Amino acid sequence: MKEFDQKITKSILTGVQPSGVITLGNYIGAIKQMVRMQDEFKSYIFIADMHAITIPQDPASLHKNIRSLVALYLACGIDPNKNIIFIQSENEYHANISWLLECNTPFGELSRMTQFKDKSSKNVNFYAGLFTYPVLMAADILAYDVDYVPVGIDQKQHVELARNIAERFNKKYGETFKIPDAYITKSGTKIMDLVNPDKKMSKSSANQKGVIYILDDLKVIQKKIMSATTDSECLIKYDPENKPGISNLINICVALTGKKVEEIERDFAGKNYGEFKKYVANIVTTEISSIQKRYYDIINSSTLDKILDENIKITREIAKNKFMLMKEKMGLYK
Ligand code: TYM
Repeated sequence: MKEFDQKITKSILTGVQPSGVITLGNYIGAIKQMVRMQDEFKSYIFIADMHAITIPQDPASLHKNIRSLVALYLACGIDPNKNIIFIQSENEYHANISWLLECNTPFGELSRMTQFKDKSSKNVNFYAGLFTYPVLMAADILAYDVDYVPVGIDQKQHVELARNIAERFNKKYGETFKIPDAYITKSGTKIMDLVNPDKKMSKSSANQKGVIYILDDLKVIQKKIMSATTDSECLIKYDPENKPGISNLINICVALTGKKVEEIERDFAGKNYGEFKKYVANIVTTEISSIQKRYYDIINSSTLDKILDENIKITREIAKNKFMLMKEKMGLYK
């Protein structure tokens, strides 16, 4: 069975919902960070399929998207020899732990989650899972006693909730969970929609022209970037408040090239938006085209199933131990 390098002591965990193909925002905000961190941390990365069903899904598409996301993780550079990659719903202890945590989470605290307020306001017929989803996320994190949770800023509030839940549980029942920290990089904090740069780039965005998907045709990606909303100033300067469109494109460049904001501003001083957009499109399509090449090699390979089968055993063992400990602490029958 796979084991982590003994010298590595700190651990991380993150997940992405398989509700369609991942966006450039998911890639920069979560996956790229995991790739960067995988040599230094014990890394757990999973497909959050039980989170995806908090919004109605077409079963056949969901099934396809789950496997596709595993292949995308690998294609993006998540190394299966360094990370434990697994599918959330294959480990029933996440839901078991979540229930015990739900019974220790105040209703009022969950009502304050901004993502819930936002999503429920868009659809009056939402289901209970949409409300309790952050507790399942806390269960995902707390089951593994990880140190850091690499996420985009939109998930920060949920990681904070996980910390609160853990602290309260530890206080009430005795030391049970490690308290994790959100890990958020500066440049990838929040990639914005290309058409509406005041909104985050999201699969559920109303105008799909503002969203770049990792499996989009490269010409389509180029077109989306070339028609990104900017402003009338013709000045390439980082100023998210007054120039959200240009600042978003700068952010994308910083995240993908590792260059500093000032360097990009200097390189494009006096140049027009068309030139800058061409440069951004080139950076994005170069990165995405190599991911796509790897993806189409991996998607039908049987090694994918082998990796998942091996890893699920490891994660079930860890999460089961945590669940049993929680049961004991709470006085449930063991
Ligand atoms: P999800 O699937 O909405 O997003 C996956 C990851 O991508 C980040 N992200 C972004 N980052 C920058 N710019 C954007 N426009 C952008 N859009 C999304 C998200 O912050 C996230 O890191 N609940 C989670 C999945 C999850 C999870 C967990 C994450 C379930 N359990 C435990 C960490 C730990 C979600 O819906 O992410």
